Amino acid sequence: MANPQPILKIRDLITRFATRYGVVTAVDGVSLAVAPGECLGVVGESGSGKSVTFASVMGLVRQPGWIDGGSILFEGRELVGLAEPAYRALRGKDIAMTMQDALTALNPALTVGVQIMEVILAHADDLPAGERRRRRAAREQAIDMMRLVGIPSAETRLNEYPHQFSGGMRQRMMIAIALACRPKLLIADEPTTALDVTIQAQVLELIADIRSELGMSVVLITHDLGVVAEFCDRAAVMYAGQVVETGPTNDVIGQPAHPYTQGLLASIPRLSHLDERIRPIEGQVPELIDLPAGCRFRSRCAFAEAACEAQQPMRDRNAGRSLRCRLADKEAAA
Ligand SMILES: Nc1ncnc2c1ncn2[C@@H]1O[C@H](COP(=O)(O)OP(=O)(O)O)[C@@H](O)[C@H]1O
Ligand SMILES: [Mg+2]
Repeated sequence: MANPQPILKIRDLITRFATRYGVVTAVDGVSLAVAPGECLGVVGESGSGKSVTFASVMGLVRQPGWIDGGSILFEGRELVGLAEPAYRALRGKDIAMTMQDALTALNPALTVGVQIMEVILAHADDLPAGERRRRRAAREQAIDMMRLVGIPSAETRLNEYPHQFSGGMRQRMMIAIALACRPKLLIADEPTTALDVTIQAQVLELIADIRSELGMSVVLITHDLGVVAEFCDRAAVMYAGQVVETGPTNDVIGQPAHPYTQGLLASIPRLSHLDERIRPIEGQVPELIDLPAGCRFRSRCAFAEAACEAQQPMRDRNAGRSLRCRLADKEAAA
């Protein structure tokens, strides 16, 4: 099946930070693609490089961090090295990202209305001429967007400050701001992590609804494979700064091939087989400083052998799947 031209194509991305302990390679050779209209789930434990990968896409990696290699194509246009004014035109308009922490991402000193109208006034091209009419139209659009994300009494809540909103309403507000200019690509970084289960489901349904309504592409970053199973077409599993497995969601979840993906699944009550106990993966994501060559998961892996100390490239398997594990070679030889 011929895939359409991806809207986002990340190739061999490397992003580093200088720290007092040494250089942290937060993203180490990540390649990912998102097709138009597709929802890609990016999953992995905390510290696996998910947020930094997409902060790199947004041009938000600043000193002491830098992009040290690779390519990020958005609609075929290279974003690595793009000058800030060009990036500013792109952010909000074509690509929008909701940050992991809605409380710190919103400006506490400005009403939510000012913050969403700022985005609309900067980017919307369908506003009437004349300052007063422009502002009135932007205000109408802001209210519409707040209604769309399910914020009640939007006309009055527009004049409130972020601290007057509950956690769930703040997340909705972040999504409303991100969607205000109807981006072609929405990157939602753990949009529901801080929320209780009912509100989590509502926010995810909302993103799914708006996605089909606007036909936009979505990257959903989460540490919860259950969320990926429910909402994403494709899944990419990240570990210690690298992608270790990708493929259509049903295949990755139905037949996880990487021992790390298998471990993630076994640690999720909703997805693990009912006759098995829930088993968290022992150990932690390693520090991303001076990592030795070879598979990064091997110290936690039940299948590890001496061969895993060699560099492990990503191997393409059939049906659009790929895997960073020597088990793929064994399987191919069998
Ligand atoms: N500003 C920074 N300075 C130094 N290290 C950072 C910075 N931001 C992220 N990192 C490191 O990069 C790694 C990946 O972080 P992150 O992308 O936030 O992981 P995830 O989103 O998967 O939880 C972590 O080890 C983190 O400590
Ligand atoms: Mg993160």
